[in-house]
Amino acid sequence: MLVDQHGRIINYLRLAVTDRCNLRCFYCMPAEGIDYIDRKELLSYEEMLRLCTLLVAQGVKKIRITGGEPFLRKDLISFLEKLASIPGLEEWHLTTNGTLSTDLVAQLKKLNVASVNLSLDTLDRQRFLNITRRDLLPQVMATLDALLEQGIKTKINAVVMARHNIEDIIPLINLSKEQALDVRFIEEMPFNGSARQGMEQWDHVAILEYIKKYFPDLQKVADPLFSTSANYQVPGFKGKMGIIAAYSRTFCGTCNRIRLTPKGVLKTCLYDKGTFNVKDILRAGATDAQLLIAIQEAINSKAIDGIAAETARAKDITESMASIGG
Ligand code: 5AD
Ligand code: SF4
Repeated sequence: MLVDQHGRIINYLRLAVTDRCNLRCFYCMPAEGIDYIDRKELLSYEEMLRLCTLLVAQGVKKIRITGGEPFLRKDLISFLEKLASIPGLEEWHLTTNGTLSTDLVAQLKKLNVASVNLSLDTLDRQRFLNITRRDLLPQVMATLDALLEQGIKTKINAVVMARHNIEDIIPLINLSKEQALDVRFIEEMPFNGSARQGMEQWDHVAILEYIKKYFPDLQKVADPLFSTSANYQVPGFKGKMGIIAAYSRTFCGTCNRIRLTPKGVLKTCLYDKGTFNVKDILRAGATDAQLLIAIQEAINSKAIDGIAAETARAKDITESMASIGG
């Protein structure tokens, strides 16, 4: 079992399969994009499968595939087939921007995806263009329809940003009235691929207050174990809604996760600077036992929370969420 020095069990891996993206969401990347990493610097599918198998044998039960946009990585579906059949893996999930995946949803269903998180900040085509710098809202909505048609558990992830999509909060919640989907509102974090900090924050308290004005009878519902969101439901609505204090970092006490970046850096917190590059020792011929020792050592250094992790870094945050894995 993988346990950190604060007694938290690590049973969840977030695996970023690419740093490439076909959108340019301003909170994630500058307009010109980021310097993508060389293909040979990426973990190969074989390497990922080896690491996943190793981690699952050590008690990891859940893996989420993220990016960048995962569907930009070649042959993703055949990788997912192999991932889904790792013995002992209880559930695998996927985060996607939904612009490329409408026709692949049926295959995700076949592979028994446990849930899909769809990044969708607005229902308005012009605001979508302003936020993502690409005019692709219809494609995302088609993917959402396909996910619901297939009966795949779907969560919409919306980053809440002053002057960009506050007017979308209520319409997004209203999607959960007739449809069995959950909507989660996320505080903006400084992972925008530049030195730009000091976002005009809508924090979790402000988001909740805003929602309660429109839905005064909003009910708190139980938060699943290890949940990063505080969850609510409008009485009578089919789906739930949640607020993720991604910048305020209120949920670190129950953190059960580690991340592998597209390059193979093991991160024990979104806000840390990375522990070490697993790929380097793997390509140098490390045995499974050696890999595990190095991974456990990195987990031992996991900061108690995201504030401590950020404080411990030498430099300010300039990474893009796409190069970390969302
Ligand atoms: N702040 C908050 N959320 C972000 N995401 C990407 N960049 C940021 C940011 N700077 C979200 C995406 C996606 C998830 C993987 O992370 O919207 O839903
Ligand atoms: Fe792409 Fe996701 Fe970053 Fe937007 S947030 S640019 S969809 S990786």
